[in-house]
Amino acid sequence: MSEHEQQPGDVSSKAPSKISSRDDFSYNPTVMDHFQNPRNAGEVKNPDAIAQTRNPNCGDAISLSIKVTDDILTEIKFLTFGCGAAIATCSMATDLVSGKPLDQAEALSAADVISALGGLPEHKEACANLAPEALKLAIADYRKRNLSNIHKNK
Ligand code: FES
Repeated sequence: MSEHEQQPGDVSSKAPSKISSRDDFSYNPTVMDHFQNPRNAGEVKNPDAIAQTRNPNCGDAISLSIKVTDDILTEIKFLTFGCGAAIATCSMATDLVSGKPLDQAEALSAADVISALGGLPEHKEACANLAPEALKLAIADYRKRNLSNIHKNK
């Protein structure tokens, strides 16, 4: 055992410098702001597409709804049953792509979201996949519907 490890119930040695499980307290101020004041939370009224995705590791899930006008993502909202990092990353992701062309929006990655937030604790980085994955699904769904509408109107 290294000098930094503690046995369960051992209160005699120094307290660990970091909380190691469900470490929500090590979020930076930007993450805390998006966690406590999430942008774009809710559901778009009369959405053009909706997508859900789930983190296979923890079961947390999000639902993303979008509105598109002339290939621009004019409105995007999310609902999540997830951790603080899931809320913060969905908030930042929706902020980053709102008003962007679909091609740019679907290129959003978890790394982009983490970078915009100024970083996440390493064990929370996988939470940042939720919004980009749901966004790709929602845009694919929108394109499929739009294509079928174009064919119907011919
Ligand atoms: S722990 Fe499940 S999304 Fe963060």
